[in-house]
Amino acid sequence: MSEIDYGPLAGLNGSWKGDKGKDESPEPDGIEKNDYTETIHFTPAGDVDNAETQELTAIHYHLEVHRIPDGKAIHNQTGYWIWDAESQLVMHEFSIPRAVAVIAGGVYRGETDDDGNIVIEVSAELGHPDWQIIQSPFMQKNALTTHFSQRLTIGPSRLAYSQTTLVDIYGRKSFSHTDQNELKPL
Ligand code: HEM
Repeated sequence: MSEIDYGPLAGLNGSWKGDKGKDESPEPDGIEKNDYTETIHFTPAGDVDNAETQELTAIHYHLEVHRIPDGKAIHNQTGYWIWDAESQLVMHEFSIPRAVAVIAGGVYRGETDDDGNIVIEVSAELGHPDWQIIQSPFMQKNALTTHFSQRLTIGPSRLAYSQTTLVDIYGRKSFSHTDQNELKPL
């Protein structure tokens, strides 16, 4: 039996925790700022063949975010990080319990930062031909996500991300809802 190759995503597997989270989210009269803790559990999901041609490997995850200092749960997310070795493509497929789902994609050609950590960038856009955002009728009308971009840094003992979600909400266009955190193995 051969080992499953998760490519640049292999280092994700396992559980991570971080308490340096910074969130900026929309409020009717401006911006809400939250510091947060986060736990992410990544589990290998094996390999997948699509239409007997595309070969993918996938890692499933579930993450939970709690606000500092009151411990309120402010975000929950589940999905897959997926690697297509032949096309050097990384896909981040996830959903959040606001009835919003995203399939973001990006090409990975061995990019690293100065410390040798893997750096992956993915994005999705409303109506994009390839990388899309799907949302409920209520969200389309009242809190429309138009763009999502994320930069993920994977090291042996540090996982970090920064992401921007653009939302049309409270009569404003393209509110920049940002989140970033640094996590360590649990
Ligand atoms: C660590 C990641 C995230 C955190 C901590 C977070 C947190 C928050 C918070 C605190 C609010 C304001 C809620 C309220 O005022 O009732 C919010 C709103 C929102 N978030 Fe996030 N969020 C995260 C990621 C995302 C992602 C990835 C998406 C979509 C791709 C998203 C989409 C939205 C939308 C559409 C709203 C507006 C809904 C509303 O405020 O009523 N969020 N988020």
